[in-house]
Amino acid sequence: MIETLLPPPVVTVHAFADLPGEAPHPGEEDLVAKAVATRRQEFLTARRCAREALGKLGYAPGPIRSGPRREPVWPAGVVGSITHCTGYRAAAVARHTDLASLGIDAEPHEALPDGLDAAVTVAGEPELLGRLAGSHPTVHWGRLLFSAKESVYKAWYPVTGRWLGFEDAELSIDPAGGFTARLLVDGTRTDGGPPLTELPGRWLVDHGLIVTAVSVPPRARHAP
Ligand SMILES: CC(C)(COP(=O)(O)OP(=O)(O)OC[C@H]1O[C@@H](n2cnc3c(N)ncnc32)[C@H](O)[C@@H]1OP(=O)(O)O)[C@@H](O)C(=O)NCCC(=O)NCCS
Repeated sequence: MIETLLPPPVVTVHAFADLPGEAPHPGEEDLVAKAVATRRQEFLTARRCAREALGKLGYAPGPIRSGPRREPVWPAGVVGSITHCTGYRAAAVARHTDLASLGIDAEPHEALPDGLDAAVTVAGEPELLGRLAGSHPTVHWGRLLFSAKESVYKAWYPVTGRWLGFEDAELSIDPAGGFTARLLVDGTRTDGGPPLTELPGRWLVDHGLIVTAVSVPPRARHAP
């Protein structure tokens, strides 16, 4: 499922259910010490997915801490992303030499709550959603746009260190499974890579879920 959305060097692991009675990994206990049961379960399973994915890249299991903006802190030389929602948890990781950054997001395949479309769209996007709803009425396009923008943020943040609002990117969506986010703000990066201007992504609807993914090419690919 999610593995089809990202290029081959990326390792993904996902889960549709939690393990009963799972304990936090040593070094992560405080990250969920005060969490409600659902958040705790989602965190534990998604972190287990992430460790399994890291293992496939050759990394020994260790704690994956959260940074100041809640971003997962990966071992040196690794980029990755985590998502969890009702009925789905997933992680994707890659070597920094293969990708500069990546973002994944999963959402229930349901309409967005009333009024949220307006909060997450910029000029032109409501018309886009209307056209897509007309031609492909079985997809909840507003939810897909929301998820795609969350994937964009998760890929954006590690290479810029800055906030990106829903109003800061304009999406074009290909009903065949792709999308592009055109960034409406300065995309200067902190990792020395070229400024982000557009981020391409992919999406799918399966198992009652919308899953989206975005990746940023490795810096070397842009070198003169
Ligand atoms: C951070 C955010 C995207 C998370 O999305 P969500 O639907 O709430 O939750 P998900 O389960 O899909 O993802 C949560 C995971 O995202 C990751 N994450 C959180 N903040 C992050 C950041 N700044 N950078 C990268 N990844 C981050 C974490 O791994 C988190 O899981 P964890 O807390 O268990 O480690 C969302 O809460 C948010 O702040 N959105 C506003 C910013 C945005 O989306 N802008 C759109 C720009 S076009």
